[in-house]
Amino acid sequence: MSTLLQINSSIYNGGGQSTQLADRFVASYRERHPQTHYVRRDLGADGIPHLTSDRFRALQTNAHERDEAQREVAAFSDRLVDELKQADVIVLGLPMYNFGIPSQLKAYFDHIARAGVTFRYTAKGPEGLLTGKKAYIFAARGGVYPSAGSETQTQYVRDFLRFLGIGDVEFVYAEGLAYGDEARKASLLKAIAEIDRLAA
Ligand SMILES: Cc1cc2nc3c(=O)[nH]c(=O)nc-3n(C[C@H](O)[C@H](O)[C@H](O)COP(=O)(O)O)c2cc1C
Repeated sequence: MSTLLQINSSIYNGGGQSTQLADRFVASYRERHPQTHYVRRDLGADGIPHLTSDRFRALQTNAHERDEAQREVAAFSDRLVDELKQADVIVLGLPMYNFGIPSQLKAYFDHIARAGVTFRYTAKGPEGLLTGKKAYIFAARGGVYPSAGSETQTQYVRDFLRFLGIGDVEFVYAEGLAYGDEARKASLLKAIAEIDRLAA
């Protein structure tokens, strides 16, 4: 049985446009693969803490040397990492806020990038340890970014996932959501058509 992990990062949780697009894909996917084990994480509601020096030290400390507080931090990060490790398919709802990813998603990334756990350095450079997964990303934006290089969010998320070993990544965009009703509807219809094609 395969596992699908849906990670939403909108501050509006289920009401976010990126979440709704991700939801549509997940609904189609689960219809086609009814045996799929489904796990959902709403970062906007989960309250993922910022990575502080204390938290980072806790993650770097050997398991048998951690104090109680450090064990809690490590257990929190381990839960997120285990969820990812068990996922065959990862679906990410990705809003653009202030030209970047939501800070909740950055805090999540900071808790799953673990040397020796999700990546390692070799003589040939970094090696991602989360291999064999496919990711679908549903990006919602108020503006329109017509060409590669006119925004940095896509490259950043691609680079980060590749660093962890997740190189098979498909993006679907809903752009121009702040450009008035007509543009918004047209953009969502285009994204939905793409989702239905991907899910077919
Ligand atoms: C705090 C905030 C900052 C935003 N910054 C940007 C931005 O830099 N560029 C952009 O194109 N849209 C921006 N938007 C518009 C969002 O990308 C748009 O509302 C999108 O639907 C967000 O995804 P969500 O509905 O899943 O939360 C911003 C929206 C909010 C609430």
